[in-house]
Formats: sequence, structure tokens, C-alpha cells
Amino acid sequence: MDLNMYIREVPDFPKPGIAFKDITPLLLHPQATKETLRRLLAGVPGNIDKVVAMESRGFLFGMPLARELNCGFVPVRKPGKLPGKTIKQDFDLEYGSDTLEIHADAIASGDRVLIHDDVLATGGTAEATAKLIESLGGEVVQFNFLIELSALQGRKRLNGKQVHVLFDY
Ligand code: PRP
Ligand code: MG
Repeated sequence: MDLNMYIREVPDFPKPGIAFKDITPLLLHPQATKETLRRLLAGVPGNIDKVVAMESRGFLFGMPLARELNCGFVPVRKPGKLPGKTIKQDFDLEYGSDTLEIHADAIASGDRVLIHDDVLATGGTAEATAKLIESLGGEVVQFNFLIELSALQGRKRLNGKQVHVLFDY
């Protein structure tokens, strides 16, 4: 099954010069989402305790991944959204900075964690998420993405950890 045909490139979004990779066409097709999930799961190491995914597009496949792996799902969110006690991590954007939060009780010391997001671009989001997990005593055993924009070299920020990607653009 050619999943590439379900990923639409939108020119000049969100800014002029950026070619946005839009997965919403894929989400319209249940057979394509099933196959995507199957491929995301292929090569996932054993004994995963938690899938951690980042708001908002990481949630789309993050929760089904956790269900298939029969493990817990943990949302990482933008500031002020999580109701419980959180820890925060700042990270740099092209212009300015942003913050991500996780519930402080969501990861137990020694948890084996898979981080899932739709896109690896500069790696700032994934790197910040790994820091959150590690500061709670979790071990990141795989970074798992649908799409890598490899020209942006985000992989360099992932400390040589295992990376599983379906599409490289
Ligand atoms: C996008 C994408 C990744 C992140 C990748 O999320 O879904 O989470 O950017 O970029 P990076 O590797 O340079 O950090 P965005 O912040 O646009 O929000 P969304 O998922 O809520 O649409
Ligand atoms: Mg995102």
C-alpha cells in the first residue's frame, strides 16, 4: 500500500516558503490509518511501559499505539492545559521559545518509554519531551515518527537514540 499518496504537501503554510506535510488526507482512510499504525509498530522494542505523545498531532497515532502495545498513554501538552502537578521544559523555536508540560506522576522511575509524534523537524519538541521523561526517571527507548524532515537535522538532537520513521522528506 502506497501511503505516500495520502500525505498532501501544502505550499506556503504556515509561512511563505514552507511546504507543510498534511496528514489529514490519510486520516480519512481507515485502511491507510491501519496500515500506518502497523508500520509504526514494526520495530518497536519490547516491554514498553508508556507511550508519550505531544499535543496535538502526536495524539492521533500516539493513543492507538499505546492501545496496541497494551501500555499507558501520556499526553505532553502546551502550557496551562494539564490540570495536575506538572513539570515544564522550555525549548527554542526559530523565533522565540516555547514550553511543554507533563504530569509529574505520569512516568515512574525506570519506565521504558516510546516517544511518538507526527513530524520530526528541528527536533526541539522531541528533545524537550525526552528531557521531561528523563527528569522523571524514565528511559526513552525509541523516538517514533510518521515523517522526518531530514534537511533540518533534528535527529542530531536525539542523542543517538533509536529513531523509527515512516517517511523521509
Ligand atoms: C509540529 C509537529 C511536531 C513539531 C515538530 O507541531 O506536529 O510536534 O511541530 O517540530 P520540531 O521538530 O521543529 O520541534 P506544532 O507545534 O505545529 O503543533 P501541533 O502538533 O499542535 O499542530
Ligand atoms: Mg506537533
